[in-house]
Amino acid sequence: MKRILTGDRPTGPLHLGHYVGSLQNRIKLQNEDYEMFNIIADFQVLTDRMETDEVEENIRELVLDYLSVGLDPKKTNIFIQSKVPQLSELFVYISMLVTVSRAQQNPTIKEEVQATAGGKMSLGMLNMPVSQAADILAFNADLIPVGEDQLPHIEQTRDVVKTFNNTFGEVFKMPKALISKSPRLMGLDAENKMSKSRNNAVFLSDSKDEVIKKIKKAVTDSKKDIVYDKDKRLALANLLMMYHLFSGKDIKDIEKKYEGLGYKEFKEGLSDVINKFLDPIREKRKEFEKDEKYISQILKEGTEKASEEAEKTLKEVRKAMKYDYKKLGF
Ligand code: TRP
Repeated sequence: MKRILTGDRPTGPLHLGHYVGSLQNRIKLQNEDYEMFNIIADFQVLTDRMETDEVEENIRELVLDYLSVGLDPKKTNIFIQSKVPQLSELFVYISMLVTVSRAQQNPTIKEEVQATAGGKMSLGMLNMPVSQAADILAFNADLIPVGEDQLPHIEQTRDVVKTFNNTFGEVFKMPKALISKSPRLMGLDAENKMSKSRNNAVFLSDSKDEVIKKIKKAVTDSKKDIVYDKDKRLALANLLMMYHLFSGKDIKDIEKKYEGLGYKEFKEGLSDVINKFLDPIREKRKEFEKDEKYISQILKEGTEKASEEAEKTLKEVRKAMKYDYKKLGF
């Protein structure tokens, strides 16, 4: 069975953009013939901040988000990166195979070099794509469903596979990115993609009133009619796209429904559509929230299973690298 690895950094609640771009796909894949692993990449939180007060709570919230949209822990193995020591061990080995100049070629790292004027970037940040390669390779994952922004990390991973297999023998499979075909949702500011840090997102955990308030404030334009025009009326086009995605209605039919009406009615309609979509998710969340122990139980079991699977790979890695020290009794 093919293996899939996906994951998120526990930096805050998931939003509608995550749902359309990624979660929906994960729910579909978990019901097909794949073995699914979902990493909660808590080490990666440290790449751009040192405030860690909220990491633990964010992990809990992330799992609540997963469960309430329908990720099934029986089908998707959810685990915590920092609690699988094999990932750190593998990272040490493979970091030796990556030159500093290769690491610096990664566009994400290049951006970081610019953002920090080159001087303040941590080694951890420089190493982040290599650490992500270790996450992927520890499970010998075949497919990595990611957004475009993560592609360079998959390229890095593939480079590591080539070098490792050439140097120590065929241990790793060549992983492939699985690029999501679903549209990227823009935020309610109509300027950036929907993102937790930009204050432009509708979260899966938002209440009815929060949704209504946010949609009311969503950026539009000075025209009145509700017509899809991606080039000239980007903000409205994004809202129409949301309406379409969360109601299943064709854009044409939505335009017709709001013919002769304006933004007020359209936005009320959109809030309704989103709230209808979120209602069952909210119901499930309430159920799971009641049971404090359930979340930690899922994480315990998932992390244990992940650790077992990663250990199988690490045994092969140590053997191939002659770090299995049998005569010394290890
Ligand atoms: N970098 C990913 C993100 O920011 C999270 C992640 C860490 C990941 N390790 C991974 C994703 C391995 C896929 C595979 O969302």
